[in-house]
Amino acid sequence: MKAIVITQPGSPEVLQLQEVEDPQIKDDEVLIKVEATALNRADTLQRKGSYPPPKGASPYPGLECSGTILSVGKNVSRWKVGDQVCALLGGGGYAEKVAVPAGQVLPVPSGVSLKDAAAFPEVACTVWSTVFMTSHLSPGESFLVHGGSSGIGTFAIQMGKCQGVRVFVTAGLATRFILCQPFNIRVFIGFGY
Ligand SMILES: NC(=O)c1ccc[n+]([C@@H]2O[C@H](COP(=O)([O-])OP(=O)(O)OC[C@H]3O[C@@H](n4cnc5c(N)ncnc54)[C@H](OP(=O)(O)O)[C@@H]3O)[C@@H](O)[C@H]2O)c1
Repeated sequence: MKAIVITQPGSPEVLQLQEVEDPQIKDDEVLIKVEATALNRADTLQRKGSYPPPKGASPYPGLECSGTILSVGKNVSRWKVGDQVCALLGGGGYAEKVAVPAGQVLPVPSGVSLKDAAAFPEVACTVWSTVFMTSHLSPGESFLVHGGSSGIGTFAIQMGKCQGVRVFVTAGLATRFILCQPFNIRVFIGFGY
């Protein structure tokens, strides 16, 4: 298969499309034919050499992707060949195929295209695990989102609203509030930093 390889630490020019070995799945993994992937800050840090992939993870960048399941390990029952999915990856999204533990695979949300779903797992898992699983934000409570116009912020606003939470935001510039307005936030608090 083809993959984007970090040939040495450096600027974007060190990224090269190369022919590499296909990934092999383990019993609890699925193989995804990648439709789309996304760019996270960690990808650029990895490219610069300051964020090595975790032990055992793919050496190629790409921390999330969407695509179609090509094969499933013998312990996997949740997914089948042909399913359209998105996935949180330890790496390897910048390739034609990626092997990923079945527990890190998600269905494509309804109303979201397969391509757009590639940018869903990182932000969704980050907001859900921190705000709802760890902090137990509950319906009826108030929720202050600093940096409301950010990638994490815009997603947190929507999830909060969806959960029946009263959402407040801050932003570095008044103009950035405009990015939050489509989400129909009732109250704005602005801070300059
Ligand atoms: N995006 C993801 O999927 C993801 C996943 C895991 C972890 N993270 C981490 O979550 C953080 C945010 O990521 P992001 O993707 O949302 O980044 P981003 O879109 O670049 O937004 C960063 C935000 O930080 C705000 N900010 C900057 N300086 C600030 C300050 N002094 N006080 C308060 N806010 C300040 C900025 O707000 P203003 O624009 O209003 O100045 C900006 O909107 C990063 O640390 C990232 O590594 C992100």
